[in-house]
Amino acid sequence: MKNHRIPEQPAVTLSGHRDACATTRGGSADTGAAIGVAPGWVRIVPYDDRWPTLFDAEAARLRLHLGSLARGIEHIGSTAYWTSRPRFRDRLRADRRLADAYAHLKRALAATFASDGLRYTDRKDAFVAAALGRPALTFTFKPLAPEHLPMLHEWLHRPHVRQWWREPSTIAELEREYVLPSADSSTHAYIAMRDDSPVGFIQSYVVMGSGGGWWTNETDPGARGIDQFLANASDLGHGIGRAMIRAFVDRLFVDPRVTVVQTDPAPGNERAIRSYHGAGFAIVGGIDTPDGPATLMRIERGIR
Ligand SMILES: CC(C)(COP(=O)(O)OP(=O)(O)OC[C@H]1O[C@@H](n2cnc3c(N)ncnc32)[C@H](O)[C@@H]1OP(=O)(O)O)[C@@H](O)C(=O)NCCC(=O)NCCS
Repeated sequence: MKNHRIPEQPAVTLSGHRDACATTRGGSADTGAAIGVAPGWVRIVPYDDRWPTLFDAEAARLRLHLGSLARGIEHIGSTAYWTSRPRFRDRLRADRRLADAYAHLKRALAATFASDGLRYTDRKDAFVAAALGRPALTFTFKPLAPEHLPMLHEWLHRPHVRQWWREPSTIAELEREYVLPSADSSTHAYIAMRDDSPVGFIQSYVVMGSGGGWWTNETDPGARGIDQFLANASDLGHGIGRAMIRAFVDRLFVDPRVTVVQTDPAPGNERAIRSYHGAGFAIVGGIDTPDGPATLMRIERGIR
């Protein structure tokens, strides 16, 4: 959201978060074993019975460092993956050849993209989409124009959008905010098109100098923020948002001045947080914004 911006004081800094992870990656004194690999790296290993215990120890350490800043600690990995993809899991169980092909692909991708987790995930997701008979996802972004405003206005009133978006504006307000010469020129709003159909709204803004009490600590002119939603409730949870966001972030990084892209879902918006994580964003931490608590997530140039 355009006025959905800035942490007065990020509660957890990016470097602080990385320090906590680095300690664990190096192996922990209390368990003698480690969970996870460096961000962006991929390693395929057989299931290890110690993983749940290691996760508990990891979560305990994070809680110790983060205290009340941690509003929740979740494992995002193969267990979460299978819980969220029961249809694909069932397809693999029913089709041995597909399961073998998937295992082979994962090993090959891990060898090719060992240090590029996002490309690894992209290719893996493409296999899953094809196995489930879903078409490949490609997006274009149409700059928001006056003729889009009635549609955008109607979208903003849909319950699944209202749940996580600011109060819907009137068409006149949307016009002032996005279209008239008085509109903030550092914000760029788009209708996301999948093939020829409008499927969502997405906007980018320059983080530094946002005003209104938002992001007052940001000193990097290359930082951009994004806000987005899918228009149709029936599209939620099928990987469309993640693909849309990846495509939009790629587009932002075409501009060599852009160093980092951030987004700030509400801490309870688990679907959004997981989607952004899948799109390559890492959680920086919980923050307090003029709109209330948020989870700051960022992706740096070069990671994507
Ligand atoms: C946020 C949004 C753009 C994400 O797009 P999406 O296509 O729905 O999300 P994706 O399918 O890419 O990813 C959703 C993830 O959450 C999981 N998920 C789906 N429904 C969920 C739910 N009700 N609760 C928790 N997780 C859920 C999915 O399994 C998936 O996780 P996985 O990758 O680990 O399998 C879209 O959900 C949306 O527009 N929501 C309504 C408005 C909104 O919240 N906007 C964001 C404001 S910051």
